[in-house]
Amino acid sequence: MANMQNARWLVKSHPANELSEDNFELTYDPAPEPEDGQVLIKTKTLVITPPLRMAIGSGGITGSVVPVGDLMRGTGQGEVIVSNHPDFSVGDIVSGAFGWQEYSVSDGRKPFPIEKVEARAGQPINTTMHVMGASGATAYIGLYDLAKPKPGDIVLVSAAAGTVGSIVCQLARHSGCTVIGIAGNQIKCDFLVNELGIDGAINYKQSDVSAELKKLCPKGIDIYFDNVGGEILDYALDIIRPRARVILCGATSQYEADGGWYGPRNYFNLVYREAIMQGFYIFNYKDRFPEAYRRLSDLINQGVIRYNEDILEGIESVPAALIQVLSGENFGTQLVSLSDEK
Ligand SMILES: NC(=O)c1ccc[n+]([C@@H]2O[C@H](COP(=O)([O-])OP(=O)(O)OC[C@H]3O[C@@H](n4cnc5c(N)ncnc54)[C@H](OP(=O)(O)O)[C@@H]3O)[C@@H](O)[C@H]2O)c1
Repeated sequence: MANMQNARWLVKSHPANELSEDNFELTYDPAPEPEDGQVLIKTKTLVITPPLRMAIGSGGITGSVVPVGDLMRGTGQGEVIVSNHPDFSVGDIVSGAFGWQEYSVSDGRKPFPIEKVEARAGQPINTTMHVMGASGATAYIGLYDLAKPKPGDIVLVSAAAGTVGSIVCQLARHSGCTVIGIAGNQIKCDFLVNELGIDGAINYKQSDVSAELKKLCPKGIDIYFDNVGGEILDYALDIIRPRARVILCGATSQYEADGGWYGPRNYFNLVYREAIMQGFYIFNYKDRFPEAYRRLSDLINQGVIRYNEDILEGIESVPAALIQVLSGENFGTQLVSLSDEK
């Protein structure tokens, strides 16, 4: 668009260890012009999640690494501000992998697919970026379809104050389980126990996690919902009960380790305790999303499920938001608002 600038974050270098803002460079280019059959999208919100780190490291699930000099990968929601496409109108809210930039064009499928976003089951539209979106579905399906909790089960959850973890904690509590969470600071641990009502929380940065687990779960655990991998997975495997279910959802502690991920050493306990360890990829369970959203919405309305958003403002904040997610300074789903409305 004539005279409109497009602020974009390019990858300047691939981090050797911890990510820093110096790994990115903010550039300003003219906003793209939509051709026939394309729409012009103004990014409203970017969602910043831990696996993004792998886009400039090991490549993650797609194996594709963003080359130096290219636009940083990222997803979010935006508004169609020009439409030359019969299926989209100006004002439509769409989701897509826009990348870390203010303006992008798509023909609906290329260079990235977009989908119209509508509020789900009566919840505010912003919740489609967390509890009423893939993260909520991950918690619901990971817990109910795979871990299959029974009342009285002892459930351990890591990254328990995060988007997925906090929903798993609340669902498991609601299902009559004893729930222990692991999180990275005291504020999060207090929130889990005092606000979400779980039974205990361990600050993994300040304590001997293995010893605390044995104190809080003297009889062991029936379910471990693993969001972080690494040593914490090993501590959990050490205390699984017979027929326990270890659900591998994510491995945030390993996303900055670009090669040589830490693998579990206590896996042999799975053998003689006849336990299972199962991973899952949520987008292979799309047929289960409608039920998950309906139930999650009911539980939000009943006050059973709460959620937090941690919103930074402006395109300049995007790298800081990812660093904050990886260091655990965020409290709730990490979003960056690029909206002009304040
Ligand atoms: N399987 C699937 O299909 C699927 C779908 C969605 C998400 N996931 C995975 O689920 C996990 C949770 O996703 P989310 O979006 O809800 O993220 P999240 O838990 O909200 O992520 C941020 C939190 O991760 C924790 N963290 C960061 N670095 C850590 C480390 N080195 N060790 C332990 N914890 C660390 C931090 O909390 P603390 O302060 O507690 O450290 C941080 O606040 C991620 O691993 C993600 O990749 C998987």
